[in-house]
Amino acid sequence: MKVGNQHFRTIWCDKTQMTVSFIDQTQLPFVFDVKQVSHYIDIVNAIASMQVRGAPLIGVAAAFGIALAVKEQCSDDFISKVAQTLIASRPTAVNLQWGVTRMLNTLLPLPTSLRLAAAWLEAEQMADEDVKQNQQIAINGLSLLKKLKVTKEKLNKADEPLNILTHCNAGWLATVDVGTALAPIYAAHDAGINVHVWVDETRPRNQGLLTAWELEQHGVPHTVIVDNAGGHLMQQGLVDCCIVGADRIAKNNDVCNKIGTYLKALAANDNGVPFYVAAPSNTFDLSIENGDMIDIENRHVNELSDIKGFDEEFTARVIKINRSSRMLNPAFDVTPASLITHFITEESVL
Ligand code: MRU
Repeated sequence: MKVGNQHFRTIWCDKTQMTVSFIDQTQLPFVFDVKQVSHYIDIVNAIASMQVRGAPLIGVAAAFGIALAVKEQCSDDFISKVAQTLIASRPTAVNLQWGVTRMLNTLLPLPTSLRLAAAWLEAEQMADEDVKQNQQIAINGLSLLKKLKVTKEKLNKADEPLNILTHCNAGWLATVDVGTALAPIYAAHDAGINVHVWVDETRPRNQGLLTAWELEQHGVPHTVIVDNAGGHLMQQGLVDCCIVGADRIAKNNDVCNKIGTYLKALAANDNGVPFYVAAPSNTFDLSIENGDMIDIENRHVNELSDIKGFDEEFTARVIKINRSSRMLNPAFDVTPASLITHFITEESVL
């Protein structure tokens, strides 16, 4: 996608230098900064600190992490140890395990002399595949949005925009490019459909501000709202559908996504608003029977107590909750399958 006039992916590599570059998302939307790293531990830290984030992106970032590790040593033991460290950097999104496992399955059967070249090739291929999958998600999701538009026209509301609510950031920043939940929205906007996006702020990390930044870059009309506003807007008839992404989808179709997704799905269900989940097939975890079995990441409570903002020239951090209060910061929740209208994958609308 474009930043200004320049096309960017969130992550890319230089195979000859054996370096990996990524957009540092902890500084957005205020500062656009690219980091270049050459050691696998930098990728572990980037995932844990959420410089790179979003389920599909951390899967690909981990693959590049393995490639950087193989540059150092290519023994089975070393690669397996690095794989475990990468998987432990964030527990909830299955894409991280998927990315690491795919690298192990590619590299370990090979003689050590072939592993280095194969690692960079495979990681780069995974990045390209992510982009292609998301382009398909865009096409499949667009068909749903077109149907909603027709329904609106039949209700004599052709002049009104199609109002879509999204939670967290499942745009191109959460993937290598294009995005998951935002992909159909970009496609609809590009196809000339009048769309407007309600962007949940998504406390405490405020990924909604990343979504707003992305939509701004692409010229998509949007409004940022506090996390608790969605139910009210749905009651007012101001939401035509919700589209969110996913971090892990269990065998029974329960969806784990950013904390607060469940409440949006409940409100959507109560108000007859379609609730769509857009995700690539590698977000489905068939080894898990239902959402109860998903390891929900609890992040540091400082994310809750402290608030970060931009004050003219620098990023300021202030404390807004007394640290002597007990706090809990679960980063994800599970939405039961019964609340989901459709899944949008690269293969189809389910
Ligand atoms: O904690 P994050 O920002 O990595 O979580 C990402 C999400 O939960 C997104 O909402 C998401 O839908 C999965 S990534 C497309």
